[in-house]
Amino acid sequence: MTAASKKVLNETEQLRAEINHHNYLYHSLDQPELSDAEFDTLFRRLRQIESEYPELITEDSPTQRVGSIPLEGFTQVQHEVAMLSLDNAFSEDDLRDFDRRIKTRLEESTTIEYACEPKIDGIAVSLLYEDGRLVRGATRGDGTTGENITQNIRTVESVPLKLLGSGFPRRLEVRGEVYIAKSVFQHINKMAEEAGGKTFANPRNAAAGSVRQLDAKLTAKRRLAMFCYSVGLVEGGDLPSKHGEILARLKEWGLRTNPVIDIVNGAEDCIRYYENILMLRERLDYEIDGVVFKVNDMDLQTRLGLLSRTPRWAIAHKFPAEEGTTRLLEVEFQVGRTGAITPVARLDPVKIGGVTISNATLHNMDEIRRLDLVINDTVLVQRAGDVIPKVVAVRKEKRPKKTREIELPEYCPSCGSDVMLVEGEVIARCSGGLVCGAQRKERIRHFASRLAMDIEGLGDKLVVQLVDEGLVQNPADLYSLKVDDLVLLERLAPKSANNLLDALETSKSTTLARFIYALGIEEVGESTARSLAGYFGDLNGLKAANKDTLQKIPDVGPVVAVKIVRFFEQAVNQDLIEKLITAGVVWPEEKIETNREVLSGETYVLTGSLSQMTRNEAKEKLRSLGAKVSGSVSKKTSCVVAGDAAGLKLTKAQELGIPIMDEQALVALFLEHDL
Ligand code: IVH
Repeated sequence: MTAASKKVLNETEQLRAEINHHNYLYHSLDQPELSDAEFDTLFRRLRQIESEYPELITEDSPTQRVGSIPLEGFTQVQHEVAMLSLDNAFSEDDLRDFDRRIKTRLEESTTIEYACEPKIDGIAVSLLYEDGRLVRGATRGDGTTGENITQNIRTVESVPLKLLGSGFPRRLEVRGEVYIAKSVFQHINKMAEEAGGKTFANPRNAAAGSVRQLDAKLTAKRRLAMFCYSVGLVEGGDLPSKHGEILARLKEWGLRTNPVIDIVNGAEDCIRYYENILMLRERLDYEIDGVVFKVNDMDLQTRLGLLSRTPRWAIAHKFPAEEGTTRLLEVEFQVGRTGAITPVARLDPVKIGGVTISNATLHNMDEIRRLDLVINDTVLVQRAGDVIPKVVAVRKEKRPKKTREIELPEYCPSCGSDVMLVEGEVIARCSGGLVCGAQRKERIRHFASRLAMDIEGLGDKLVVQLVDEGLVQNPADLYSLKVDDLVLLERLAPKSANNLLDALETSKSTTLARFIYALGIEEVGESTARSLAGYFGDLNGLKAANKDTLQKIPDVGPVVAVKIVRFFEQAVNQDLIEKLITAGVVWPEEKIETNREVLSGETYVLTGSLSQMTRNEAKEKLRSLGAKVSGSVSKKTSCVVAGDAAGLKLTKAQELGIPIMDEQALVALFLEHDL
C-alpha cells in the first residue's frame, strides 16, 4: 500500500463534494443533472480510491452510508429540546378558532402569517449535526426520550452526512419525517409477496419497521426518504427569524424540505391551501394525512408558547378519516393465478375519503377468524392511499341477530375442483390447475405480461373475453388464434386483431429465462427464472432436476425446489410446454454451464482491481462454476480473490485465515475449465 499523494487527496475531496452535490440535486431537489451511469462512475472512482487508500476513508464519505455490523439493540437518546406533538383541527371552524385564539393571546388585530405544510404520514426523527457533520439520528419516542437510530438514518440518501455550504450553527438539530414513497412501498410489498414473505399494511408501518431495524443493510434496502420541517437545538450560531426562511436555509445546507410549502396570510388562505393539497394528495408519491399550519414569525411563536405537550402556534388540519363503517353483505372467494383462494368482502357501499368503497380484502381464513367476522356484521373499513381497502375491525356491539358464519368453500368457485389446504400454509388453493377458468385467465395474463412473453396488446379485458368465449384455454392456444376468431370479439377492430397476431408471432422468439418465468410456476419470480435458466442452460435439465439439485442454485430454497419439481411432474404442464414448443416458441441456446459443480457451495469475495478481466466477468465466471459471490468477507468466505491494491477486505481475510488467490491463479482456474 503506498501513501496517498496530494493529488489523490485532492481528487478524493473533489469526488466527495461532487457526489454530495449531485446526491442533493437528485434526492433533495429532484433535479438531477447527471445520468445514473455518470453518477455511478464518480461513485465507483471514489470507492476505488478508498479501497486503494483505506486510510482516506472518513465517516462522512458518501461510500460509508451503510454500516456493516448489525446492532444488538438501540440505546436511548435524551432530547435536549422536547419533541412536541400537534393539536388537531377537524373542520374549517376549528381552524378559524385557532386563528382567533392566537390573535386574542397576542392582542393582535392584524392578519397572522402562517407557514403551510403537508403533514407527512411517516415517522418523526431528529438529526443532530455538529460542525456540519451528522453525529446522531434519533426517533421521537415519547418526546423526551427516543432511540438512537444513527446507523439507519445514515442510509437515507436524502439525509446529508455532511451539510453543504457554510454558516450553519455549531450544533444544529433538524427534525422531520422519515417515510417510504408510495411507489417504493408497492415495490417492497411486491418483492415480499414474490418471496413468500410478510407484506406491510401501509407505507407508514413499513417506514416504522425500517427505522427500527438492527441491521442497517436491511434499512438501506427500504429506500427511506425524509422531509425536514423544523429545528430543535441550536447552539453556536443563529437562524433567521421566520420559519419559512429557516426551512429555506435548511434547503441550502442540503437538507430536503417539502416543495409544496407555502406562506399565507390569515385563516381563509389556510383553508384554501388545505383544499389545494387535498386535491393534490393522490398525485403525491408519499402519504399525507393532513396539513400543518405554523405561525411563521419565530418571535410570535416564543410569545405564544406551549400548552402542555403541544405548541399554541401550530395546528394540524387532518383530512377526513380514511375509515368508515358499513355492513358486510357477503364474502366471496377469488381465485388467483396459482390457485390461491382469497376471501373478498362485499360491502354495503360507503364513501371513504371521497371514494365509494364496496369491496375490501380479507387476506385469508385466519384473518377472518382473527377478526371474528360473520356475515351481516358492521365492520370498520380503512383505505390508505393506493392500497386495497381493508376490513380492520368488527363492531361486535352492533352484531344483529341474523348472522351467518363465513366458510371456506369446499369446491373452487370458478371451476368446482376441490379446494386444498396445505399444511403449514394459511392460504387455501384450488386444485384444478389449468382446468380452472379463473386460474386460466390469471395464468394467461401472466404469460403475456411484459417480463414474461411480452405480448403487446393482450390486455386484461381481452384475456377475459378470450377465455369466456372459449377461444383460449391455456397459453398455447394463444398461438392458434386467427383473425376471424378475433374480429368476432366485441370491440376488437381488424387492425387491432392483426396487431395482436403480429405481437404473438414476435413473442415466439424469447429467452429461456422468460419462458420459465412465463410458465407461472409458484414461487418462481423473474430472478429465480433467470438463475434456473443460467444453471441448467436448457429446459430438459430443469425438467429432470430433483429437489436436491435445485437447491444448489442461489435463491432456490427447499420450498421453491418442491414447487418446481411438482410443476414439471404434472401431465397438464408437460403437455402445455410441448404445445408451446410445437407452436414455434424458441429461445437461443444458452451456454450449458457444465462446470457448475466445481465451486458449488463455496463463497468467493473479489477485492482490488483486476487487469485481465472486469469484475463482472470474474463474478459471472465464478458463478458459472457454482460459487456464490459476496461483497463482504466473513468466516463463511471460502476464498478471497485479491487484485491489485486490495484493501480492507484482504486484511480481514488475512486476519480470519481465509485462503487468498491472486488474479493469475483466478485466470488459471478459469482456463482449466475452458472459461
Ligand atoms: S411540526 C411542534 N410539521 O406530525 C411541531 N409535524 O403530531 C411538531 N408531522 O410528530 C411537528 N408532517 O411526526 C410538523 N410538516 C410537519 C409534519 C409534522 C408530519 C408529524 C410529526 C409530529 C406529528 C404531530
